[in-house]
Amino acid sequence: MKKQLFGKTREGGEAYLYTLRNQNGVRADITNYGGAIVNLLVPDRAGKLADVALGYDTLAGYETDKAYLGAIIGRFANRIAHGRFTLHGVTYSLPRNNGENSLHGGAAGFDKRLWTANDISGNGAPALELTYLSRDGEEGYPGNLSAKIVYTLTSQNELKIDYSAATDKSTVVNLTNHSYFNLAGQGEDDILRHGVTIHARHFTPVNASLIPTGEIRSVQGTPLDFTRMATIGSRISADDQQLKLAGGYDHNWIPGRESDRALVLAAKVHEPVSGRVLEVLTSQPGIQFYSGNFLDGTICGKQGKLYQRRYGFCLETQHYPDSPNHPDFPSTELQPGQHYRETTVFRFSAR
Ligand code: GLA
Repeated sequence: MKKQLFGKTREGGEAYLYTLRNQNGVRADITNYGGAIVNLLVPDRAGKLADVALGYDTLAGYETDKAYLGAIIGRFANRIAHGRFTLHGVTYSLPRNNGENSLHGGAAGFDKRLWTANDISGNGAPALELTYLSRDGEEGYPGNLSAKIVYTLTSQNELKIDYSAATDKSTVVNLTNHSYFNLAGQGEDDILRHGVTIHARHFTPVNASLIPTGEIRSVQGTPLDFTRMATIGSRISADDQQLKLAGGYDHNWIPGRESDRALVLAAKVHEPVSGRVLEVLTSQPGIQFYSGNFLDGTICGKQGKLYQRRYGFCLETQHYPDSPNHPDFPSTELQPGQHYRETTVFRFSAR
């Protein structure tokens, strides 16, 4: 695995760029700063490679980023209402960095940390292990949490992400990856012509601050029904209260699953011109489909590209947002002695 210096952090730490390649030319460049996927080159139907991930050319881009491009999100992905939750009788306060809510782990979440990297490639598959110890009280969360992410690039053009964590005190955990994709090539255009399938009959509707109301609602008859393929753009401006609240798609879907731990195919995206296909498989109970509504052209991304509104989409596999405040949602609690383990696969192909 090739390793090169990406830059020095403001605190003087060294961030590196690690290159994972397979025999089909697929290449993923990952930095140990925030565990971000920086570049992701995958072939179209003619075998032509394009970089399908939004990102920055420099480490400084990641240090000042507010859109979480490509990064690992923790300790708690998505929103926690009012930056507050109670666990075993103790109320914890978190930084409110998104209006009145706490978003994506707080002011300096896992996306703003330098992880320890190890090349653990084996059996011909390049694999990068990243570990990070989040101290008791960091960003308001209880317990020393040791987190581990393993990125593996398979010969089937899959980028597999294995997440694990353990704690020494009861806490909550929700880890994801916040990559923005454009299967036509990053920075070229918006993603509205991409076709999306989400294998989910239900989603968690939100209030005006994008916190789940607690209801589990059927997608049937709504523009959030992607059980059959639809382009992102076809209904995004529909007269629908949920789309209006979020300014587009920014919701948690609940993929159907038969058993708790198994990987299920949660979503599939197809870009018609290149033929590129992304399938997302996951062990997690939820998936946030976000249509890049907050991108506004103020981010200067890779190769000088300006990321305009809806220039990328995210499929963030996760536990439901604000779970610590919803006892009836699948639990995000982690106790000492338990092991948090989740897997997500981004599988690329072309047709
Ligand atoms: C997630 C959230 C969005 C937004 C982005 C980052 O996808 O659900 O509302 O905060 O992250 O901009």
